[in-house]
Amino acid sequence: MKPPLLVNAWHPLPAGYAPGGLSPALPGSQVLLESGCAAALAALVKSAGGEGRIVAVSGYRPHSEQLALWEEVLRDKGEAFTRRYVALPGCSEHETGLAIDLALDDGSEIDFIRPYFPYDGICAEFRAKAAEFGFIERYQAGKEPVTGIAAEPWHFRYVGAEHARRIAALGLALEEYVLQFNRRSPE
Ligand code: DAL
Ligand code: ZN
Repeated sequence: MKPPLLVNAWHPLPAGYAPGGLSPALPGSQVLLESGCAAALAALVKSAGGEGRIVAVSGYRPHSEQLALWEEVLRDKGEAFTRRYVALPGCSEHETGLAIDLALDDGSEIDFIRPYFPYDGICAEFRAKAAEFGFIERYQAGKEPVTGIAAEPWHFRYVGAEHARRIAALGLALEEYVLQFNRRSPE
């Protein structure tokens, strides 16, 4: 079994990385994800009873889009905010097609950088079932020194059900899990 792909400021995307085939993140959405990840997300949202309530805000971003986003947020919000909430271009999970930002659609305007995805209601249902469908909440509070990113309750990463269940049970950040995984089963 391979470890999940780790992408962060210290682990840029492998050179020449290209995502697999892309599909709408949720039925009818313009947001794209790698196809297997999209199918798992749609099944998870359906199982949590979130159809029409949980919406996809941002999924696959080509490198050029991550770069443009970084520059826009840097200009508008400054460097400290940008480093907390936007991964360096070339170092974003969004460039893999395996990460999704979600919002609870409560009728209010959706913040593209920090969408509203609370810890109660339908979003709690979603989180309770996420690992079963292969997703982890990627940037949790308390793990900032390890991930290099602020807590992002809206950002989920697809790693497959086997890894996701273990990561959730162990309460580890993906960085910690991959380190542990490679120590136990060196390539
Ligand atoms: N918001 C996450 C960290 C990203 O830009 O990939
Ligand atoms: Zn995200």
